[in-house]
Amino acid sequence: MIRVILLGASGSIGKQTIDIIKKDYDNFELVAVSVFSNSSYLIKLLQDFKTIRMVFLKDDKLKVQLKEKYKNITFFSEKDGFNNFIDSLNGDMIVNAILGFAGLYPTIWSIKNNKILCLANKESLVVGGEYINNLLINSKSKIYPIDSEHSAIYKCLKKRNTGVKNIILTASGGAFKNLKRKDLKNVTKKDALKHPTWKMGEKITIDSATLINKCFEIIEAHYLFNFPYDKIKVILHDESMIHSMIEYDDNIYIAEINKPDMHNPIAYALYQGNYPCDLFENSDFHKFGDYHFHKLSSRRFPLIRLAKKVIKNKGIYGCVLNACDEVCCQAFLNDEISFLDIEKIINLVMKNVDDVQSCDYQIYKMYDKITRQKTLEIIRKMRKN
Ligand SMILES: NC(=O)c1ccc[n+]([C@@H]2O[C@H](COP(=O)([O-])OP(=O)(O)OC[C@H]3O[C@@H](n4cnc5c(N)ncnc54)[C@H](OP(=O)(O)O)[C@@H]3O)[C@@H](O)[C@H]2O)c1
Repeated sequence: MIRVILLGASGSIGKQTIDIIKKDYDNFELVAVSVFSNSSYLIKLLQDFKTIRMVFLKDDKLKVQLKEKYKNITFFSEKDGFNNFIDSLNGDMIVNAILGFAGLYPTIWSIKNNKILCLANKESLVVGGEYINNLLINSKSKIYPIDSEHSAIYKCLKKRNTGVKNIILTASGGAFKNLKRKDLKNVTKKDALKHPTWKMGEKITIDSATLINKCFEIIEAHYLFNFPYDKIKVILHDESMIHSMIEYDDNIYIAEINKPDMHNPIAYALYQGNYPCDLFENSDFHKFGDYHFHKLSSRRFPLIRLAKKVIKNKGIYGCVLNACDEVCCQAFLNDEISFLDIEKIINLVMKNVDDVQSCDYQIYKMYDKITRQKTLEIIRKMRKN
C-alpha cells in the first residue's frame, strides 16, 4: 500500500489523479491533500476519502470550521504557511500538481526526504533544475515525470537508452497555431483558452498559446534526462497523439502514441512505470495516417529561444523567467495586458538578469519576489501609457 500525498488536488492534474486512486484502493491510500481556493472540492474529497489525515487550504476561517468537524485531521491554512504544511507531511509518494513557483518547495522537500515524486509541476525544474539534480545525488528519491512529453521520453529511454541522437518534443502549437503574428494583436483570453487538443488548467493553456510551455519543457527535459540543449528538438504536431519521440543514431525512432489524455502519464507515474495498460483506453493504430507535423518557426514563436538562454546561463535565469511569466499570464487573464504584451514583457525582463550562480530555495524565493515586483511595475507603467 502506497501512502499518497496529493498537492494541487483541486486542479486539472489533481482531479485526474483522484480518478486513478479511486480505481485502485488496494494500492493507493490518500493520506494528505492540498487545495488552494477550491474549498467545495476539498469538502467532497473529505467525504470520499476517510484516509486523509493532513489538509492544506487557503481559507483560515473554513479551516477552523473543518477542524471542528474532522477531529482526526490536521488542517493548515495559508496563515499557517504552505511550507510548514509540507514540513509536517508523512507519506511515501508525493504527487506535485501545484501550479507555479509554490510547487518548488514540495519538490525540494520530497527529494530531501527520499520520497517517490510524481512531478507535474514543471516549474520546479525550470526554476531550480540544477539545484534539484544536485540534491538527487545524495537522495533515494526518484522522480516520475507527469508531463506527457517527458513521460513519453522516459518510456522510450526505458526501451532503449543507447545511441540517442535527439529528443524530439512534440508541440500542439496552442490555440493560435494557425494564426500569423500580425493576427495575434487583438486575440482575447477567451480565444487563448481554446486549446485545440488538451483540456488543462488556465495558466498552462495560456503558456501553450505563447509556446513558453514548450520552452519550459525543453528546460525540464534537459534536467530530467541530463541531455544537452542542442539535442532537444521541438516539432509541431497537430493531433497531440505522438507525445514525443527519440531519434537514434541508426535512424530508428521510438515514440509514444496515445490519445491526449493526462490520465495515462499520471497513471504511469503513480504505478512507477509498472501500470496496468488497460486502465485507460489506448489509441487506434488504424488512424496513424492522419497525423501531421510542421517545422517550428522561432520567428513565429520567439519565446522558445529563451530555453537556450536559461540552460546556458543557469543560476536564477529560470527563476526569473518563471516568475515573470506567472505575473504576465495572470495580468492577461485579468485583461490588464494584451496577448503580445506577455512576450514583450518577458523579453524585457530576461534582457537583464543578475548573474547569481550558487542557488538554494531562499535565493530562488528572493528572486521570485523581486521579479514579480519588477514585472508588476512594468505592467503598471504600460497601462498608464
Ligand atoms: N493540466 C495539464 O494537463 C498539465 C499537463 C502537464 C503539466 N501540467 C503541470 O501541472 C501543474 C498543475 O497544472 P494544472 O493544469 O492542473 O493547474 P490548475 O488546474 O490551475 O491547478 C493548480 C492547483 O494548484 C493549486 N494552487 C494554485 N496556486 C497555489 C498556491 N499558491 N499554493 C498552493 N496551491 C496552489 C490550485 O488550487 P485551487 O484550484 O484550489 O485554487 C490547484 O489545486 C502545472 O505545473 C502544470 O504546468 C499540467
